[in-house]
Amino acid sequence: MAATGALFLAILYAVNAQTGTERPVPTLSPQINAAPSLTPTIYDAQAPDPQKCPGYTASNVHNSTDGFNAELTIAGSHCQAFGNDIDDLLLEVQYQTQDRLNVKIYPRYIGDNNRTQYLLSSDIVTEPEGDGHTTEQTSRLKFEWTNDPTFQFRVLRAETGEELFSTYGHVIVYEDQFLELATDMVDGYNVYGLAENIHDFHLGNNHTQTFYAVDAGNTVDGNVYGTFPFYQETRYHEGKETTSHGVYARNAHGQEWLLRDGNITYRTLGGSFDLYFLSGQDESGSSSALETIRQFQVDCVGTPAMQQFWTFGFHQTRWGYENISVMRDIAKGYKDANIPLEALWNDIDIYDLYKDFTSDNNTFPAAGMQQWISELHQANQYYVPIIDSNIYAPNLENESDAYGPWERGAELGIFIRDPTTGDPYYGNNWPGFSSWADWLLPESQDWWTNEILSWFKDVPFDGIWIDLSEASSFCVGSCGNGRLNENPVHPPFLLPNDPGNADFRYPEGFNISNATEAASASAASASQASMLSTTTLIPVATTTTQGRTEPTPGVRNLNFPPYVINHVQAGHSLLKSAIAPNATHNDPSNTTEYELHNVYGLQISNATYHALLSVFPGRRPFTVGRSTFAGSGRTTSHWGGDNTSTWGSMFLSISQALTFMMSGIPMFGADTCGFAGNTDYDLCSRWMELSAFFPFYRNHNVKATISQEAYIWSSVAEASRRVMAVRYSLLNYMYTLFYHAHTKGDAVMRALAWEFPQDRSLKGTYTQFLLGPSLLVTPVLIPNAKTVRGVFPGIGEGTRWYDWYTLKEVQAKPQENVTLEAPLEHINVHVRGGSILPLQQPGYTTTETRNGSYSLLVALDSHQTASGSLYLDDGYSLVPEQSKLVQFKYADGVLSTHINGTYKSSPPLANVTLAGVPGHLTGLSLTISGQPCEVGEVAVDPGDGVLRISGLEEFTPEGAWEGEMVMKLSFD
Ligand SMILES: *[C@@H]1O[C@H](CO)[C@@H](O)[C@H](O)[C@H]1NC(C)=O
Ligand SMILES: *[C@@H]1O[C@H](CO)[C@@H](O)[C@H](O)[C@H]1NC(C)=O
Ligand SMILES: *[C@@H]1O[C@H](CO)[C@@H](O)[C@H](O)[C@H]1NC(C)=O
Repeated sequence: MAATGALFLAILYAVNAQTGTERPVPTLSPQINAAPSLTPTIYDAQAPDPQKCPGYTASNVHNSTDGFNAELTIAGSHCQAFGNDIDDLLLEVQYQTQDRLNVKIYPRYIGDNNRTQYLLSSDIVTEPEGDGHTTEQTSRLKFEWTNDPTFQFRVLRAETGEELFSTYGHVIVYEDQFLELATDMVDGYNVYGLAENIHDFHLGNNHTQTFYAVDAGNTVDGNVYGTFPFYQETRYHEGKETTSHGVYARNAHGQEWLLRDGNITYRTLGGSFDLYFLSGQDESGSSSALETIRQFQVDCVGTPAMQQFWTFGFHQTRWGYENISVMRDIAKGYKDANIPLEALWNDIDIYDLYKDFTSDNNTFPAAGMQQWISELHQANQYYVPIIDSNIYAPNLENESDAYGPWERGAELGIFIRDPTTGDPYYGNNWPGFSSWADWLLPESQDWWTNEILSWFKDVPFDGIWIDLSEASSFCVGSCGNGRLNENPVHPPFLLPNDPGNADFRYPEGFNISNATEAASASAASASQASMLSTTTLIPVATTTTQGRTEPTPGVRNLNFPPYVINHVQAGHSLLKSAIAPNATHNDPSNTTEYELHNVYGLQISNATYHALLSVFPGRRPFTVGRSTFAGSGRTTSHWGGDNTSTWGSMFLSISQALTFMMSGIPMFGADTCGFAGNTDYDLCSRWMELSAFFPFYRNHNVKATISQEAYIWSSVAEASRRVMAVRYSLLNYMYTLFYHAHTKGDAVMRALAWEFPQDRSLKGTYTQFLLGPSLLVTPVLIPNAKTVRGVFPGIGEGTRWYDWYTLKEVQAKPQENVTLEAPLEHINVHVRGGSILPLQQPGYTTTETRNGSYSLLVALDSHQTASGSLYLDDGYSLVPEQSKLVQFKYADGVLSTHINGTYKSSPPLANVTLAGVPGHLTGLSLTISGQPCEVGEVAVDPGDGVLRISGLEEFTPEGAWEGEMVMKLSFD
């Protein structure tokens, strides 16, 4: 959970404020928390225009087999726009594969003793390399450049000459704290990605995407937790195939992408230009969004980790589950309501005063935890606790404050340092003054692994939730210097349960569905506001406004870089809510947080992944992290952060999910029913329905709001039971999608525009989405609705759609916005003709579901054909000893399976259902492994284009996929 968000923002205690009883009064003074208020450069009318800088001239071109390099030399006097100009640069152009072109620009003179720039290490973030045989002649991308009037370049498709990127007409700016290049864009361009953002799926041409990992709730249009400097662009062409390509800028510094009418400007606070242009073209030469996304994952950052099967079950957590008995009650609440529950999680409540790896003996004693978790495990349920990124720095003058994790870390010297003292950096977080591990040191991994291994003995978890990995710090600078004797200090703002901080917010529409409650909440909120204004609670001392800093020759100003990104923190200072930029790492180059801030989350998630490999050798680690970076998906998954219980927040979770599919982190889900604020039954029913089609499915809630477990309201309970029956029957489909994501970079959730690229009207659609290629989800996204409108793409061009529940074919016109019935407990799901879905009888847990009998749903397309696949393995091994891939095909009235691999799943195949059949069944025969089966007994129920064949179990007693099947059907 986050410290901040509108609710908590900028409220500080007076020294004598009333607090909760559990800890000393807060002692952080306003002075320590104040950082000057800055004007973001994009809003600063006085800021210099970097396009007035002189640019560079290329010379000394050296051709090689896979590209060329050249020297770039500044083409005029220094402009010092937002840093010190770097005179001498190198340009490297490499045709890396036929579909990927790399352009690097970096300082010519660079070395350990002469570091003006930090170039992102390939140890942290993969640096894509060439395949060793592509040449300019075999590349599908072409690089052109000119020195007229200064160095500019463009990237084209070799075959068609389509210009993908062009700096022509713009100078390149390269200073120690500021890099800029701009590309012209086509009119009304369609650009997607640049995650993480809480924004429309179609980014539009009036948006600034700022990247600086921040703990501030889910700010719409602002920077949030993750950094994925990758966009995909789609172009619709009259009468010709739609094209797509991608651009990845490998740089982890604070940065901004200015999407404007006719151009995009890319600015970073340092590092290098390291640009990867992706053709988006497949083997046939056609380009597509899906292929662009594959190229980004497979070729640039790595494909996503395969997840354990159980992680696709439903998860429940909350900040505010106060003890083991509450946890037992939650599990029982779900069981009694017969709503599947796969895993229970704990937020920071489990720890003694929020210190990682501790136990509060009154609430979560180790012995009690072991007992309780073993009960969960016996019921085939799982347990996932949180670990925060901060490590409490104990008061060394007080023996009773001893804290092993910090002491062992300090002994090893693995904490990020305060450059002014050389001691560990002491920021502030939930437990009080704290330090943070420096993941550049190999010792940090060993230390982390040991801490997690030894904690596991007390708390035998099944996965780990990594929070506050931005990394978040609640004060400015190393504020604990000389003050550890005050620890444990209270966080410098009100906690949810503290007096004066009750949360009276409800979703939009609550005043209509629950008028009385809404009125009393509104009155209570007003009375709290007036109480706050007259009590001892005081706002943060008003901070001074500081103008832009001017570049100083030979010096970088790390804490106040001359270019001010539009950071969402009040006052926009990089010192707010994070480890300060000048905090120093322990590598030989003393790399700073200024350079590594955006990869902290990636690093701690990687370290946790490796620690889990020690806890569970050979098992796929399950970690869910908040701050992520390009490449994080290889080791971690992500939840959408601190959203709110509002309809808007639910809607935007779809866009956020789609951009995470693009970013290689398909294991994504939002805090269902909303984290901050109170939810209501209407929103929570709709959200439980929607999230059931996101890979990661978890309900999470803040402390001190109303409860929102799925069994609290009868409508939410019913909606959840129904939708979970759908989800659990489809777990194999989801798992198979992950297999294709892991092996080939296929997207799991898909935008309509990706699957139907020729339909320009879908370019901005995210009110609907697909799960894989085959399921269309049309959620209700507004309060108090009984119907929902949606389109059925491809209709009129041969695509058929069937209602999931009735299998009736949808009758609609092309691009018609069809009104669908959507009672509160119902979500519209449609199956695309041409799909074969392997289903399993849903059980209470994923384990039970894996033992349920199989069925096949064959949804026919307009040619009476369909296909699909099923991937099976043990569900947890990193490298499964056995697996199986079953290919399904239906054509010419024959349904057949093709089986590869030896993994055995014992449940039989019970049913085959076909949708969209042409008439009445006149003949049916079945062979399995070439042996004819007596199908006379099977129940056949033709009618309405739907054919249901059941009672097949007896033919596959050893398991549904032990022998290849051929089922022949004929119709009159
Ligand atoms: C390098 O290659 C380019 C493009 O193939 C060619 O125009 C140029 O003459 C070559 N330069 C040198 C120095 O060989
Ligand atoms: C260090 O970099 C500067 C600026 O690029 C350059 O002028 C100088 O020669 C370099 N010094 C060394 C020792 O490489
Ligand atoms: C562009 O966005 C800004 C900031 O959100 C807004 O004030 C402005 O009106 C927008 N301009 C247009 C043309 O929509």
